[in-house]
Order: sequence, then structure tokens, then C-alpha cells
Amino acid sequence: MTLFETVFSGNDAVYGLTEGAVNAAIEQHGADKAVSFPNTAYCLPCYYAVTGVKVKTLGELKEALGVVKTLMTREMRLNDVFMSGVATALCAEFIEVLKYIDDAEPYTEPCYGHLADAVIRELGVPLVTGDIPGVAVILGSAPTKEEAVALVKSYQAQGILVTLVGGVIDQVAEAGMKTGANLRVIPLGKDVTSVIHVVSVALRAALIFGNVTPGDAANLMKYTFERVPAFVNAFAPLDDVIVACGAGAIALGFPVITNQEGVSTVPKSLILQPDVSKFNATSLEARDIKIKITNIDIPVAFASAFEGEIIRRGDMQVEFDGSRVDCAELVQSAEATEIEDHKITVIGPEADEMELGSKNSIAYVVKVAGKNMQSDFEPVIERKFHNYINCIEGVYHTGQRDMQRIRISKDAFHAGFRLKHIGEVLYASVKNEFDAVVDKCEVVIYTDPAECKRIRHEVAVPTFNKRDDRLKSLTDESVDVYYSCILCQAFSPSHVCVVTPERLGLCGAVSWLDAKATNELDPNGPCQVITKEKCIDERIGEYEDVNEAVRKFSQGALEEVSLYSIMEKPMTSCGCFECICGIEPFSNGVVITNREYAGMTPLGMTFPELASMTGGGVQTPGFMGHGKHFIGSKKFMKAEGGIERIVWMPKELKEFVAERLNQTAKELYGIDNFTDMVGDETIATDPEELVAFLTEKGHPALGLDPMM
Ligand code: SF4
Ligand code: NI
Ligand code: NI
Repeated sequence: MTLFETVFSGNDAVYGLTEGAVNAAIEQHGADKAVSFPNTAYCLPCYYAVTGVKVKTLGELKEALGVVKTLMTREMRLNDVFMSGVATALCAEFIEVLKYIDDAEPYTEPCYGHLADAVIRELGVPLVTGDIPGVAVILGSAPTKEEAVALVKSYQAQGILVTLVGGVIDQVAEAGMKTGANLRVIPLGKDVTSVIHVVSVALRAALIFGNVTPGDAANLMKYTFERVPAFVNAFAPLDDVIVACGAGAIALGFPVITNQEGVSTVPKSLILQPDVSKFNATSLEARDIKIKITNIDIPVAFASAFEGEIIRRGDMQVEFDGSRVDCAELVQSAEATEIEDHKITVIGPEADEMELGSKNSIAYVVKVAGKNMQSDFEPVIERKFHNYINCIEGVYHTGQRDMQRIRISKDAFHAGFRLKHIGEVLYASVKNEFDAVVDKCEVVIYTDPAECKRIRHEVAVPTFNKRDDRLKSLTDESVDVYYSCILCQAFSPSHVCVVTPERLGLCGAVSWLDAKATNELDPNGPCQVITKEKCIDERIGEYEDVNEAVRKFSQGALEEVSLYSIMEKPMTSCGCFECICGIEPFSNGVVITNREYAGMTPLGMTFPELASMTGGGVQTPGFMGHGKHFIGSKKFMKAEGGIERIVWMPKELKEFVAERLNQTAKELYGIDNFTDMVGDETIATDPEELVAFLTEKGHPALGLDPMM
């Protein structure tokens, strides 16, 4: 059979199966039965992205199947092969959605099946920063389980997100390899149709970040080809169905690498690599993925894939806990003459002199010197310690300042990992990432309890207090410039964030100080200086210079933007916002919800549904993506009256922001304990009940002018 015939035959086979399954489902449940995937605003995301039609019932699914049939043309042109590949993928989505009827949970550990919109939004930042340089889809069974594990680990060590479909899932499980989204290895499912769950991620990325119009198939494929760095590794033996799915992948721009002898190859698209140990290199080359290499001399792996790893008490060798004993982490600028580059000192006991399972003190001071170093960069560098230390395989880090907590696993300890290696990691990472400002770097690690106490109280805490005073004095009025951030343009080509002291980037990861440091580190990079000399309208925070910058950085897609209004020329969103806020007409207020909250809001929409109202760098008055820390800001919706418009938040978010929000409410309006007046899901998720609650509490929003 030629490649064409193989694809057509695989497509026909899957179509037949789908038709049978849909008919059987209608017979069993009736045509009005609802079908949907959980936690998405896009119904059947692939079908919606390709056709622009939202399928909601079995009857509509059957109609959709008729549309799929029209893609299955049988001329012998390349386009027919691609469209048959797409048709195969859509059929796979139909088969998969049937598994979710009646809110079933068809996938059990370790498999994930369908991935929520929130997962995609979370991937936004690591993908644009190159922390996740690519997405691998591994399909079938490797020749041996050792080869399966080696391949998966090779990607994991590069930070590549790995998804697994079919036999490889059992192979890595048998080999005892840990998997899970927090380790960037996601088993999707054992049926080949479960591959659609990663395709669904790629296509939703185009809708969420790319502002691609649903139904605009040509632009959809252009987007995935240009911006989603995915590729497929398909193990022999390939059957017709897998080849047909592969044609779908190629249509989206994802090359397929296989060890199937005799396969008819297509340059740069369907590639034969008989040696599985070379799959990694061949795949990266085919998809043109470059890996940032950080060589650090430690006895365990160091990769961003280990950032989410958790170490349980039973697996732990030793721990350090700033909430119980004296700990601190600190960056200190010093004179170049005071520093010996790459010197690492441990003062006090090493890990092998500590009792198994014990809780200890630790304080590390990273001294840096450089002619471009500024004290404003100290907290920026310091905040990265969390990532750096977490990237160590077998080491877990949370918290910051003098409240950090670190666990070292038994496995890492037995591999030879010691505290001095934390010094190596901090040294190498700081030198690597901050080379433009750090010329010399030295690390001192204290574990002696008396020394830790001294460092914490006499050195670190006074420094933190000084920095907090500096932060408090940083207001939008007190600085001369703001910064643009266009990091997200990799996925949202026309999105620009304007970052000010009182309004951080909507991802929550870029403050004004971060943007300033980024600009200093890379003057031609994503963050550029924006002057603010020509104010147009103080009330909504509109400046001629800001508009000019936004026009330039959005390549003309965006004309005017305000800093302080959600209704008039609001700032755009890319897709990776931590929170989304939308107006609630019954109370004249706004509802905020965050990515972690899966439940309903009084707007009758969940986070993914609300989030889908905005994004892609487009202005949508009434909806605004923003960072968590923006909620307590005096500039939050200042034009519409400010934070007194906030009527509802998920309980956890409310608690997270309470201290600052209450302080701001006190300062702006003289209200005590403002958060007690704000609803949450334990109080109401229904607008009428919410208004009753707000009335009872005398919430100020009720007395304000309507926003619309
Ligand atoms: Fe993306 Fe804005 Fe965050 Fe920059 S500040 S990374 S553009 S969301
Ligand atoms: Ni770790
Ligand atoms: Ni973004």
C-alpha cells in the first residue's frame, strides 16, 4: 500500500468505528443527551477549533460526523491526505467524548485523558520563556521498557513536556518511573484515540492565546505549525489507524519520527529513525527545538521538569524549615574585591552529619558583585532561588526569605547530594541567568544554629524590612517610567502588558522591578522602557507615550490602552492570567475568579468559561485578566471606583489577598475588614443570594453607579 492508501484506509476504519459508537450511544441515551468534556469552555475543542461549531448533544455529534465525512476526499493529492488525517483526529475526539457521558470518569491513575483549559493556561508562561522548550507525544510501545524509560527521561531532562499514549505507559510504570503533570510526564490513555487529548491542547492554545477564530482552519494550522513546538514519536509496528493519526499531526505541523522499517518517509515530516536512542536528537532537529544547557556539577539531575516534584516525609533524608527554626535565603551585593568567584563554603554540619529525618536550620547568603549590579535586583535574583533549588531532582523547596522549607530525598542523598551542591546550583544558575549584572558570585551556607540565628535576625530581616519600605514607596506616580512586556507574543502575537509599580503583569510573574531587571539584563529583550510624560486622562490612566508604545509593540493591532479601567480601553490579555474579573450587573460590582478554583461563580460561568471571554491580545471591555497581587492595589479598576467594586471571590483567593486588600480598603474608603463583605462560594454562587448577602453586609458597590 502507498502512504496515501494507508492513511485513507486508517481514516475509513476509524470513521466506521465512530459512526457505530455514535449510533449506539444515541440508541442508548437518545439524541438529546448532553456530551461534553469536563473543565473546558470549548465543548469538543478540536471540532470547535476546526469548524467553529459547538457540539453539545449526541444528535449534534451525529450531524458533526456528516461534516467530518466531507473532509474525507479521496483524490491522490497531499491535501486529501492531510484532511483525512484531520478527519481521523476529529473522529478520535468523538470516540473520546462518548467516554465522558453522564459525567463519567473514564480515566484512572496514572492516565489523565482530557486536560482542563486551566492546564493549558498554566503552560503559557513556561512555554514562552522556553522553560518548556517543546512537547513530545510518544505513541505505542518501545522495543524494550529500558528504551522507553531512557527516551522519556531524555526529554524530561531537557524540560520537554512528554505525553504518553498506548503501551509505553505500562512500560514506564513497570520500570518504576514516576509520572504525572508535576513531573512533566503525562500518560494520556492506552487507546490510540486518547492522543486527541494532546491535539486538543495544541488547538485550544490557538484559541486561547492566538486569537484564532474558531472555524478558520487555515489560520489554525498556521498557528500550530509556527507556534506549538510539538512532535510525535511513534513506535513500530504502525497500523493504518496510527498512520492516519500521524497524517493529522503532520497537517498541524508536527513531525512524526518512527522506527518502522520500510515506511514511506516525507522529508521533515515523516522521518525514519531506526535507532530509538536517537529519537530525541532527530525530533529536536526536525522541529527545530533548541535546548538551553546549564551544566552544573552535582550528582543528581537538574531540570525544570523536576520543579513540581514533591518529597513525602517517608522519602526524606533531612529537612529545613523556616517556620520552626532559624532559616534565611539572601542575595547581598558586595564589592568585587570582597568576593572570590565560585567559592562555596559550608559553615556548620553537612547533610551526612545530620540525623535521618531531622529538622535543621539553614541560611544561605549569595554574594554578588558586578558593575551593573543594583540593589533593586537583589530581590529579583533571590526570588529565583525557589525555581533553582526545586529543579534539583530529589530536592523540594517552598517559601522564601526566612520562611523557606527544603527537603532532600533519601535517593538524592544516597546519590551523593550534599548541601554544598545547593551552593553549586545557586552559583551556576545566578551566573547563567544574570550574567549581564553579576560578574562574581560566592555562596556561604550556614547550618550552625547560632550562625543561622545571627544571619536571620541581624542580616536578613533588616534587609527585608528595608526592601519592603522601598516597595511601599514605589507607586505609579513616584517612578519616571513603566515597562512593556511582550514575552507572551510567542503565543499571543499582538498582546502587550504594560507593567507599572502598582500593576504587575497579568501572569503574576513580572513585577515592575522584574521588568526593570529584565530590561537591564537584555536591553533588546521583551521588556522595554515606556515613558509617561504625556498624560491624556488621569482618571483612566491613559498616556500618549503608553499608547505609542502599545501601538508599536502590538504591530498596530492595538491603538489605545488605559491602565486603570476595565470598561474603557482596558489592557488586553494573552491567556496566562492568574485571575479573571468580570462585571456582575445585579450588584454593580465585579466577580473575580482564579485558575485554581474549579467551581461556579455568580456570573453562571466557571474560570475556563470566563477566561474564554477574553484573551489573544484583544480588548474586551467588562472582562480583564490580571495577576493575584493586583487585587490589593489602589489602581485596581480605579476608574470605576476601585476595589470597592469587588463583590465575590473564591474563598481561597480571598484569604490569599485579604491582608493587602483590607489595608487598601481602609486607606481608600475607611472600611474595616472589607473582605468580610465580599462573597465567596460558601456564601453564594447565585446572583440573587449574593445581592442579599451584600445588602445585609452593606457592601459599598450597591450604592455605586452601574458600570454599563
Ligand atoms: Fe506575558 Fe504579560 Fe507576564 Fe510578560 S507580563 S510574561 S507579556 S503575561
Ligand atoms: Ni525538585
Ligand atoms: Ni501570557
